Amino acid sequence: MALLIKGGEIVTAESRYHSDILVNGEVISAIGTDLVAPPDTEVIDASGKLVFPGFIDPHVHIHLPFMATFAKDTHATASKAALIGGTTTFVEMCCPSRNDDALDGYHLWKQKAEGNSACDYAFHMAVTRYDAKTDAQLREIVRDGTASFKIFLAYKNFFGVDDEEMFRTLTLAAELGVITTAHCENAELVSQLQQLLLAEGKTGPEWHQPSRPEAVEAEGTGRFATFLQQTKATGYVVHLSCAPALRAAVDAKMRGVRLFVESVLPHFLLDRTYAERAGIEGMKHIMSPPLRDKRNLQVLWDALQAGLIDSVGTDHCPFDTEQKLLGAKAFTQIPNGIPGIEERVNLMWTYGVKRGLLDIHRFVDALSTRPARLFGLAPRKGMIAIGSDADLVVYDPHYRGTISARTQHTNNDYNGFEGFAIECRPSVVTVRGKVQVRDGAFVGQPDRGRMLRREPQYFKSEGPHVR
Ligand code: URP
Ligand code: ZN
Ligand code: ZN
Repeated sequence: MALLIKGGEIVTAESRYHSDILVNGEVISAIGTDLVAPPDTEVIDASGKLVFPGFIDPHVHIHLPFMATFAKDTHATASKAALIGGTTTFVEMCCPSRNDDALDGYHLWKQKAEGNSACDYAFHMAVTRYDAKTDAQLREIVRDGTASFKIFLAYKNFFGVDDEEMFRTLTLAAELGVITTAHCENAELVSQLQQLLLAEGKTGPEWHQPSRPEAVEAEGTGRFATFLQQTKATGYVVHLSCAPALRAAVDAKMRGVRLFVESVLPHFLLDRTYAERAGIEGMKHIMSPPLRDKRNLQVLWDALQAGLIDSVGTDHCPFDTEQKLLGAKAFTQIPNGIPGIEERVNLMWTYGVKRGLLDIHRFVDALSTRPARLFGLAPRKGMIAIGSDADLVVYDPHYRGTISARTQHTNNDYNGFEGFAIECRPSVVTVRGKVQVRDGAFVGQPDRGRMLRREPQYFKSEGPHVR
């Protein structure tokens, strides 16, 4: 059945205008005023509402064995939560540990997602060890349509790679034209600082930030950039959290290193005082890199508005209260992660666009269009154009609500943004032409989501591919 979205105001990364959108099958077939729809067309009245391209979360964890436990969401719960919040595509980190076989891991992650996701998805393939099999395995994974890698400079002996492994990964990535995403913290410094703090009896969540100070992230960011420069690979720093790391990234960009920068929802809204709360309240806000001094928040907003931070993800990673309490005796055992797949769009709108910190087009760009372009999903995703997938968000800027664990759809027993007001909400969300969400409720097809296969696009000899 065709779908006509009538009378809304379309907002993209570049433009803003009133128009109807006609969807035939899975794609947008016409954009114009007073479009005449064929019989049997479902008409959605979007008057008074904004219409955005479906939002893309470039950094989520769903299946995640980590820190002696597993993140709580399934693809079913996370994808519905994503859609209710306006996210129609996510890119999941496929993270087998250093002791697992990479290809087995890749098949396991695909199998977990297939048939279980209500929205579309892709993977970043984590390289957590580089041995004799890795080269052939990564080539196979890229041929299968997973055209981005992930490396962790942190998490020594678990996900973390050493400098030789980073060099080999980036050398292969440059040859294959694949972008490499990186968690940039110096693993050795974190490990040494953790041991020192614990030896001094400093065991509470408030010591997590001092164990991973800003300089440790800046060092990781700078080192990643140096390795990109020498290998001529293209990189993407994930979840950048502070001014010194931003300076290292911008310095690299200005040297011509092909480096893109992501920051994530918690770092725009929460500061270290959340993690310094006593006991479980602090533990709920432990993630890495950690929540930082408040002075960094404005720096991140400014850099986002200026386009120095390219994209906004979530690093969605739900661990419940019982799991967080695994770290009751030592902050080093608190499972790291703050969920946000459901809240990202509404909170960035409310505290960014509505408060005048973020231009509406940069908002669409950073949360949809730029991740689509960076990760080889455009023009199918991230734009409203004839022939693009009809992933559309009809957005109500007049809705008023409050974030709460009581009403969330993420599988967790708390919400890191509890009590935050929101001044907006998706009214209707479609995935390839099918209505999946109406007014905060999932009403669609639970297995609608498809894996998005992507082509490599970052070859050594070519210039930057993204504006
Ligand atoms: O604290 C975080 N970020 N947890 C998830 C793992 C990671 O580093 O991305
Ligand atoms: Zn990370
Ligand atoms: Zn992550």
